[in-house]
Amino acid sequence: MSRYRRFAPALVIALVTASALTACSRPPAYDIDAQTDAGDVHSAASATPFSTYHMALDLTVDFERKVIEGNALLRLERTGPGERLVLDTRDLAITAVRAGNAQGMSPAPFELGETDPIIGTPLRITLPADANRVEVTYRTSPEASGLQWLEPRQTAGKRHPFLFSQAQAIHARSFVPLQDTPAIRFTYEATVRVPRGLRAVMSADNTPELASDGVYRFQMPQRIPSYLLALAVGKLAYQPMSDRTGVYAEVEMLERAAYEFADTQRMLDIAERDYGPYNWGRYDLLILPPSFPFGGMENPRLSFVTPTVIAGDRSLVSLIAHELAHSWSGNLVTNASWQHLWLNEGFTTYLTNRIMERVYGKQRYQMEMALGYDALQASLEDLPAEQTRLVFPTEGRDPDAVFSDIPYEKGALFLHELETLIGRPAFDAFLLDYFQRFAFQSIDTNTFLEHLDDTLLAEHDDVLDRDRILEWIYAAGLPAGAPAPTSEAFVRVEATRAQWLSGETAATELYTGPWTYHEWKAFLDGMPERLSDAQLRALDEAFKLTRARNNEIAFSWLLITIRNGYAPADGRVEAFLTSVGRNKYLTPLYRALVEAGREEEARRIFDAAKDAYHPLSVKVNGGLVYGEDAPR
Ligand code: BES
Ligand code: ZN
Repeated sequence: MSRYRRFAPALVIALVTASALTACSRPPAYDIDAQTDAGDVHSAASATPFSTYHMALDLTVDFERKVIEGNALLRLERTGPGERLVLDTRDLAITAVRAGNAQGMSPAPFELGETDPIIGTPLRITLPADANRVEVTYRTSPEASGLQWLEPRQTAGKRHPFLFSQAQAIHARSFVPLQDTPAIRFTYEATVRVPRGLRAVMSADNTPELASDGVYRFQMPQRIPSYLLALAVGKLAYQPMSDRTGVYAEVEMLERAAYEFADTQRMLDIAERDYGPYNWGRYDLLILPPSFPFGGMENPRLSFVTPTVIAGDRSLVSLIAHELAHSWSGNLVTNASWQHLWLNEGFTTYLTNRIMERVYGKQRYQMEMALGYDALQASLEDLPAEQTRLVFPTEGRDPDAVFSDIPYEKGALFLHELETLIGRPAFDAFLLDYFQRFAFQSIDTNTFLEHLDDTLLAEHDDVLDRDRILEWIYAAGLPAGAPAPTSEAFVRVEATRAQWLSGETAATELYTGPWTYHEWKAFLDGMPERLSDAQLRALDEAFKLTRARNNEIAFSWLLITIRNGYAPADGRVEAFLTSVGRNKYLTPLYRALVEAGREEEARRIFDAAKDAYHPLSVKVNGGLVYGEDAPR
């Protein structure tokens, strides 16, 4: 048990007593132990006496059958007594298991345990006493939750199929049998066989050369957690953007992507200067087809990126700053289980804002901070109180179903408060040291708090209050007096909106000329719940919102039109839902349709679109339109 947890209960009692005395001014009591799961409840493999430190994959990608088959050789370090190794799997067909050591390998007894709908199926292997490696021969299912197999028509070029993986949070086990917990880190090598003419890329040392025989070999010399294992196969071309950065994409997207993300090298330089060396070699981007269910995924050396952020004006590139920032917060210092996701995403959101300020200036920084704060406010209103805690129990829950803005925006706001209290130079020095001290380690919130005790809380006890820090981390909502970032530009946007709402100025007369995406987003997101048909028509005619090409603007507008039953946008709603697979857009739009009493239409659109959706998008949005619980 950690030093921190040991004395936490006393603190809870102190808080309860204090709150009984001054009932309304004290924060609510919270039970830290009850909020902290032991170990990683989402992996059957984490409690076994072995730890994987290297993996060698030999895989064949078969587009006809939509399966990957091959071998995974795991090299193991013993961490305790016992002979049973457990690996996580989901929908894998296991054909053989061998175990042994450098002297030789022989068949090992194994069994598949009972399947848990969230966690999958444990693969239990009995190892001989002197074994330090195990090799599993297996095949994936065409329905693997972590893979999407695309038909040629679902790609930009329309002529070749495409495959990509998305392992975070617990989907690596659907394409490799492994210890699928972020608490364990391993290096890897891989041989990947793909149809000739296609290219395979991984979260490893990609080279721009095309293998004429379709056989690609990868090395990943830095230790990574399993959720950062990544593979994509398609008709991919490469374009360098600078010495260390470049883009992989279908050739149809390549130029536009390289233009959009041309500032990546500057972001990298800035991050390195403030937070220490970039430890991963190259930093490239992979542009995926539009069905990619996330905005971006921080796969090491090769962030996976949705094409929906290619707006033509670099307005949505904070996503790149975000995935790049994970090279420090997340990939270098990693949350030890999904309960501690805020250590990855909160730190990364904070770093993103800082990088954006340095590259694009204070005004954009303020606007992006304010948009983040708005998103946080919306989540705080929407979510059950329990899910507004930075750390909350995840036992029995599907990580895909508890995904929200809270770990991102509340986590970032907490760090922003620390920065404000102790000053930027001191906080940057803290971060630099934190990334160095915990580099290539997986940590939980307790370890972070112990580290705070030894550093900031010891050095800045004049301005920092430990109880308040605990409240940030363990209590629901926001502590009283939490920072509320605002932007000068948005104050003007609000005045403009008010002029229009009051009828004082017609939409065509509003001063919106120099507005960027940020102002439009704030303008639309701040609209009242109800607008009249005439108002919607006036906005649409003046600003052509139904035809907006920027996906964020289109999304905000379409939400308004659904809420208010503005029929001229219905066609665009349907087109958007069937052409984009990013869940951040799909889920709120489907929810809005359901809330507007349009379930029938939502189901019709979903049924027509679902063959092109990623399994994750099918799972979360299918539940939503067919009336089951779905994440926000
Ligand atoms: N690592 C996340 C995506 C993720 C989180 C996948 C949890 C599965 C479980 C990635 O870095 C991310 O945060 N993406 C955001 C980017 C945005 C905040 C700029 C997204 O996809 O929208
Ligand atoms: Zn992230």
